[in-house]
Amino acid sequence: MTEEIAAMKKGDWSLNLEDPYFEEQCEEIWTESLAAVRQTKEGHYVNIVTPEVCGDPRDRLIPQLAAALQDTSMPAVEIRYMDQCGCGGHVTRIYRQPSLPRHPVIREDTYMEQAFNGTETIGEIVAGFPGASNLFKESKIDFCCGGNRTLSAALRQQQIEEAPFLQRLNELLRQTRQKQDRDVDWREAPLSDLIDHIVQKHHAYLYKELPLLSEFVTKILRVHGSVHSELAVLHTLFHKVKMELEQHLIVEEEVVFPLIAAAARTGDQAVLTQAAKTIDELESDHSGVGELLKEMRRVTGNYELPIGACRTYTLAFQKLEEMEADIFEHIHLENNVLFPRVKSA
Ligand SMILES: [Fe+2]
Ligand SMILES: [Fe+2]
Repeated sequence: MTEEIAAMKKGDWSLNLEDPYFEEQCEEIWTESLAAVRQTKEGHYVNIVTPEVCGDPRDRLIPQLAAALQDTSMPAVEIRYMDQCGCGGHVTRIYRQPSLPRHPVIREDTYMEQAFNGTETIGEIVAGFPGASNLFKESKIDFCCGGNRTLSAALRQQQIEEAPFLQRLNELLRQTRQKQDRDVDWREAPLSDLIDHIVQKHHAYLYKELPLLSEFVTKILRVHGSVHSELAVLHTLFHKVKMELEQHLIVEEEVVFPLIAAAARTGDQAVLTQAAKTIDELESDHSGVGELLKEMRRVTGNYELPIGACRTYTLAFQKLEEMEADIFEHIHLENNVLFPRVKSA
């Protein structure tokens, strides 16, 4: 990796994409923006200035970035549309703040995800997040009889400033979620919970990332393949992984996991034995994917970037390494926790 590419920016900074190239290639703006976020230190922000001809970032860029930043490896961020400059360019500010909720929060004219914003009723908040009740008690907000009011209305009534309260509430929510994640011992949790966790976290990750990665791997092959012949091998290996996993996930979700869940629910030993029989095949798929990932690492020299690698090249390698880490965690949960539990039940 070159110094220039790898360097994290020292503090807040701006990336000006108002140039003739990006005016022609508007669709490349979001990959540039994503790379810029990666170069921004936690606790700081990057302003992305985009050309007027590429349109209002709230229509496309901001939702695209929010989706991409829900990546497991990216710390929380906040995305805020700032302004349109006199020259016509749009400014979008992206913060990296480790203390915010895991999913990106989009403020102002856009929307907020995975965090309370005051429009929820008190009853809804406590039902979904019982830990909020302590904060409500402390602030003398009635969450039993007065549960139908929105949080904003309740705060106004108690003359409590809304922004700091929301910040405390959302921080509490984030800490609770983190703790819940850490506290789950998957060797003991109900099998159906473990299956839900695998599907919602790891399968969902692959459904989102594999198509994006396919585009990246294809693009770097097209642009740099004539100089870097290993990119053709990488392209083949990656698409083998993609195809293997797409078929594997279908077998798990349509055949094996429903059998395990049904056996766990009914205690039917015959169904459990039937599920256990399919496991050898899944384990063999895992080994196959593991070998392909090892080969991808080998041909890229452990994802070592060539001197002068462009942003797409850099992002592709970073995302491939993230994919590898997620697959390892995914396979670990199945091979070492879920399957042994099914076999020994
Ligand atoms: Fe799986
Ligand atoms: Fe699997």
